[in-house]
Amino acid sequence: MVFVIIVTVYYKKNKMKNTFKYFLLLIIILLFGACSKLNDNVPAAPEVNLHKEGILNPASKNFHGTLIKNLMWDMRGCQQCHAADYSGGIVESSCLTCHTQPEGPEACNTCHGDFSDPAKIAPPRDTEKNTSTDSVGVGAHVKHLYDNQIGKDIPCETCHKVPQQVYEAGHVDTELPAEIIFGDKAIINLGINSSYDATTATCSNTYCHGNWEFFRDSSANQFAYNSDRMIGNNQSVVWNVVDGTQAGCGSCHNLPPDGHSNAQISACGGCHSGIVDVNGEIVDSLRYKHINGEINVFGN
Ligand code: HEC
Ligand code: HEC
Ligand code: HEC
Ligand code: HEC
Ligand code: HEC
Ligand code: HEC
Repeated sequence: MVFVIIVTVYYKKNKMKNTFKYFLLLIIILLFGACSKLNDNVPAAPEVNLHKEGILNPASKNFHGTLIKNLMWDMRGCQQCHAADYSGGIVESSCLTCHTQPEGPEACNTCHGDFSDPAKIAPPRDTEKNTSTDSVGVGAHVKHLYDNQIGKDIPCETCHKVPQQVYEAGHVDTELPAEIIFGDKAIINLGINSSYDATTATCSNTYCHGNWEFFRDSSANQFAYNSDRMIGNNQSVVWNVVDGTQAGCGSCHNLPPDGHSNAQISACGGCHSGIVDVNGEIVDSLRYKHINGEINVFGN
């Protein structure tokens, strides 16, 4: 553009028609040269490196995972060359040599969870590759899902709407933070008002953390009450503080809960048999009674 203007000015000033013609010819030749060079590169010959250096190097800014992340995780463009099932396609370069699961790179542990263990699809690692529990993407997933010492491992559905496949609405089509949509045990009893505040990473009003009440009037075991109801402590808990301070015995409910007839911790197991031992440890070996949403007493 600048070049053309300079040429025009030059022409007007000097009125040297012939010189201008030569300039014009030169420009046309140059343009032609550039175009024919471009044309040579257009057919996607497999031997040509279409991707920049580092496509397979996780440390590179050109790493393919990073490219996909920058596309809001949309891999549909890749399928045009690498085939709908990622097996190679017209460019004969398969994703499945490394992404070996049936779903290929769309497997649920590709972008979050354990890349080498398809059974672990929740963070760590999160989608930013963080693995520290201090990161909100990681937080207390492990404690709830894979290493729960006080209850049954908690399914994703308790806190998220789980997509059946990667492009389902509400999954990767929105910016972080991930959506928290409580379900299952989180929302029973008083927990219908459960909520998550992403700005403080705080869960409030969940059944599991003590937002419940049981009534004497409707109970077959009225002797167990010293008030009209027993209540939990309705703890608000911070997701990325994972140091044991928020799930200690006595945090979600007192020992025994408020409104429960008095009892020593060594005695709980006498009535709540199979759940607690004389040391106050949860012994529910299959872990299906403690925090299962129900009253469990006298072996039930
Ligand atoms: C226009 C066609 C085309 C598109 C679109 C395309 N690729 Fe490729 N890709 C190729 C070709 C050709 C090769 C092999 C030559 C090379 O490395 O550039 C390749 C190679 C690769 C490799 C290296 C594979 C190996 O085993 O060496 C990765 C990884 C890759 N592509 C990822 C992607 C991702 C991710 C996308 C989508 C964001 C994508 N590609 C989109 C053509 C394409
Ligand atoms: C040569 C092996 C190899 C090939 C081929 C390959 N990938 Fe990957 N891919 C990896 C590895 C390894 C990771 C995990 C890297 C990490 O987390 O450090 C990864 C990560 C990813 C991720 C997760 C993104 C992230 O960074 O969290 C996506 C999505 C992905 N690959 C898609 C594809 C697609 C699509 C293709 C084919 C077009 C492809 N990959 C081909 C090895 C490969
Ligand atoms: C291509 C990468 C990718 C793959 C593959 C993937 N996810 Fe995700 N997933 C993400 C990202 C990114 C987020 C965070 C989304 C957000 O910001 O809300 C996410 C979030 C989630 C969440 C939290 C709730 C939400 O939607 O934010 C769940 C649950 C989840 N994924 C389950 C799955 C399951 C199940 C699969 C397999 C069917 C899967 N993901 C496959 C990238 C992926
Ligand atoms: C006890 C509740 C709970 C359960 C159960 C749970 N999550 Fe989450 N998840 C969260 C919270 C809280 C966040 C953080 C939201 C934020 O960023 O503020 C989160 C974030 C995520 C993210 C986003 C990570 C990122 O990069 O920021 C993914 C992906 C995810 N969860 C997947 C899963 C999957 C898959 C499961 C089941 C295997 C699961 N979660 C089970 C509470 C839960
Ligand atoms: C994360 C919150 C939480 C923590 C921590 C917790 N509990 Fe509970 N506990 C509950 C909830 C919720 C119930 C209500 C009943 C149910 O859903 O199982 C409950 C019920 C009980 C019961 C009645 C039996 C039953 O399961 O119905 C006993 C006994 C009990 N807890 C003992 C303990 C002891 C001992 C500890 C410490 C080792 C402890 N709890 C720690 C949430 C918690
Ligand atoms: C003498 C027997 C007895 C002892 C000892 C006892 N409980 Fe209970 N507890 C009960 C009965 C019976 C109920 C059920 C009330 C009902 O059916 O409405 C109950 C209910 C509860 C509940 C609420 C409902 C449920 O099952 O989750 C909790 C929590 C609880 N007990 C915890 C404890 C703890 C903690 C201890 C020890 C500090 C303890 N209990 C000791 C008899 C006992």
